[in-house]
Amino acid sequence: MPNVLDTVDPRTVQREAFLRDVLAGLAKPRKTLPSRWLYDDAGCELFEQITQLAEYYPTRTEISILREHVDEMSSFCGPGAVVLEYGAGAAIKTQILLAALRTPGAYVPIDIAGAFLLTTAERLRRRFPQLLVWPVTADFTAAFEIPRGVPQQRRVVFFPGSTIGNLDAAEAQQFLRQARRHAGKGGAALIGFDLRKSLEVLLPAYDDALGVTAAFDLNLLARINRELGGNFDLDGFRHEARWNESESAVEMHLVSLRTQRARIDEQRFAFAAGETIHTESSRKYELADFGVIAAHAGWRMTRQWQDEQGHFAVVGLEVN
Ligand code: AVI
Repeated sequence: MPNVLDTVDPRTVQREAFLRDVLAGLAKPRKTLPSRWLYDDAGCELFEQITQLAEYYPTRTEISILREHVDEMSSFCGPGAVVLEYGAGAAIKTQILLAALRTPGAYVPIDIAGAFLLTTAERLRRRFPQLLVWPVTADFTAAFEIPRGVPQQRRVVFFPGSTIGNLDAAEAQQFLRQARRHAGKGGAALIGFDLRKSLEVLLPAYDDALGVTAAFDLNLLARINRELGGNFDLDGFRHEARWNESESAVEMHLVSLRTQRARIDEQRFAFAAGETIHTESSRKYELADFGVIAAHAGWRMTRQWQDEQGHFAVVGLEVN
């Protein structure tokens, strides 16, 4: 007998999860929406544009750190390493690492976007014909298993892009614990994250002069209108980047420009003038604090590489 779950369209499941999160988040006294919903097709395209902006230093800084220190990173990983990448996307940074590794054992890109993941896997197979590429479709923020057949050599988790900064403290801890479990005994990790710095550098990176980040943030309301039949007036909100000192994070907010209401799925939400919807936190770590967080999850931070200005760090962790 066919399993009923087999007949459920993943897009329906996705829409229901989106609706649940939106209704729950907007019902809170401090309205909030999970940042994962920023990334529909339009959001991914806008994020790609953000990474090219003069003000947005993280992407190019991390790439320069990888290029400059990739030989040391390769020695850290060792010969025959099996690279597990969480949220692989287009895997641009991975190619820098893979090209420098000595006889890598396998590359396991893990991403929730299955079709995109297969395209990435195909591209990497063409670029590295000797490499075993084993894509896994999974949501890395939830529990999942690495397939049994993946070679057992030293496993190295690769998690660049400061994506860890978009997780809250509990989620980051859960992520690091799962990564440790996947890496197993003798395993390691290379993790890229953004460092604390002057607000003169931080805030423009999240509120650029061309308004691309504002469009990225406002696209979330447009997505609610498109996919959930909402009636947000996009001209009634503006994007704001704020520093939250106690969280050590840049926050994105959508600020209501006037008293207004929005309707989603027969539910109405009232907004006072100046009230905000918190749409993303981007945590900025001190290197030592990150070491403590990693230690709680069973990792030892043994290496670190930074750019000259100390804006961004890539660290090497080893399983305790
Ligand atoms: C994906 N992530 C690491 C970005 C960041 O810097 O936190 C998302 C982003 N939001 C606005 N600009 C970039």
